[in-house]
Amino acid sequence: MRMPRFRKRNRDRKQFPLPRAAAPRWSDGLSDVSIAGDPTAFPHLARTDLPAHPTTVAGYARLVREIAADRARWEPLVRYDALTRWYARLETGPGYEVWLLSWLPGQSSGFHDHGRSSGVMTVLQGELTERSLTAGGEGSRALAPGGLRVFATGHLHEMVNASLEPAVSVHLYTPGLVEMNQYQASAERQRHGVH
Ligand SMILES: [Fe+2]
Repeated sequence: MRMPRFRKRNRDRKQFPLPRAAAPRWSDGLSDVSIAGDPTAFPHLARTDLPAHPTTVAGYARLVREIAADRARWEPLVRYDALTRWYARLETGPGYEVWLLSWLPGQSSGFHDHGRSSGVMTVLQGELTERSLTAGGEGSRALAPGGLRVFATGHLHEMVNASLEPAVSVHLYTPGLVEMNQYQASAERQRHGVH
């Protein structure tokens, strides 16, 4: 294009069309930016309001602690069921889910594993007793608010409210819990060689 000829027709330079940048050539290599423009200029392409999801054990532990500290979030949701343990899914994210559970005195999970899931849990209110079964023997520990329990895939345990007060707990599973095998304690001792 020869610009001098164009200037003669229109002296107002402000209306001159700006020279366009040369289109990228295939040989230059293309990226999402060269094809679609700057994604940060389009909120629907580069949302910044999405929550940051945890991806590590430390991140999951932090999330559980944050939920525990946010009493106004979980307390209104808690229900108690005299016939069976009550539970509700509190939150899901990519690769994890969080459950809220309540335990009346005497209610127990029975011995179980969590399939392929590992997890983090804490007691929000009251006290729970965990009985775990490992090759090293049978263990028992009291869990109270403030303590954090992390368990790996294959962990075998039983949770029970052995106190006289209702209890509430929060459990994060990763990946999400799709399998929970129940065991008879005696049969499991045989299976794991624990006597
Ligand atoms: Fe469990």
